[in-house]
Amino acid sequence: MTTLLGSETTGATRTTGPALRVVVVNGSPSRPSRTMGLVRVILDTLGETLPVETSQIDVYHLGAAFTGTVERDEAPEEVRATLRLAEEADLLIAAAPVYRGSYPGMFKHFFDLIDQYALANKPVLLAATGGGDHHALVLEHALRPLFGFFQALTIPVAFFASSGDFDGTTLLNPRVHGRIELGLADVVDLLRSRATGSGAGTHDAEAGTHDMVKEG
Ligand SMILES: Cc1cc2nc3c(=O)[nH]c(=O)nc-3n(C[C@H](O)[C@H](O)[C@H](O)COP(=O)(O)O)c2cc1C
Repeated sequence: MTTLLGSETTGATRTTGPALRVVVVNGSPSRPSRTMGLVRVILDTLGETLPVETSQIDVYHLGAAFTGTVERDEAPEEVRATLRLAEEADLLIAAAPVYRGSYPGMFKHFFDLIDQYALANKPVLLAATGGGDHHALVLEHALRPLFGFFQALTIPVAFFASSGDFDGTTLLNPRVHGRIELGLADVVDLLRSRATGSGAGTHDAEAGTHDMVKEG
């Protein structure tokens, strides 16, 4: 299993209050990954406004216990714990590369095991990357309907970047950065109202960084 657990925040101002517990479900097998490069910018932008505690689930690296699980009831405890992590998030970031015009099968397998009612009314932010722009609507035609099934509260502005927007896995395109800033500004009050993390609530903007610790 490869779950990244971490916390901390960045911020242009000193932010207070409970931390937003963000869980990233990463549908990319790549290390490093353009999809996670996009997510990094989303997390950094979010962290400028709110205290956040971030966990990451790399579905391609959860191992045989995960890929071999067909029914939630038969899942071993390590798989259940990972599923619960996603189910209990304040904000879920569903991030995936486009594969064959849709999300990767491994990404879908993770959500096939998620409790059918666990994501109802949960804020879910959608993010995807592709080789080009032609499949940008995978966000609206594949990812959003998946979370519609769960009756999740998908955030209206979803984020897409293609290969030309990156230098390696660093997102450079200012248009995508701007869209992330605008899209998150629209929902920051909602997200603040959902924050339940301990996080001690106060973070020094000057000193703060995302502090993700890799396990497994
Ligand atoms: C199996 C496979 C299928 C892909 N299918 C598509 C596709 O249908 N449309 C597209 O735009 N890019 C496609 N791509 C390209 C990836 O979506 C793109 O390179 C993505 O940014 C990779 O993200 P990552 O670095 O996080 O793995 C495909 C890549 C692979 C490996």
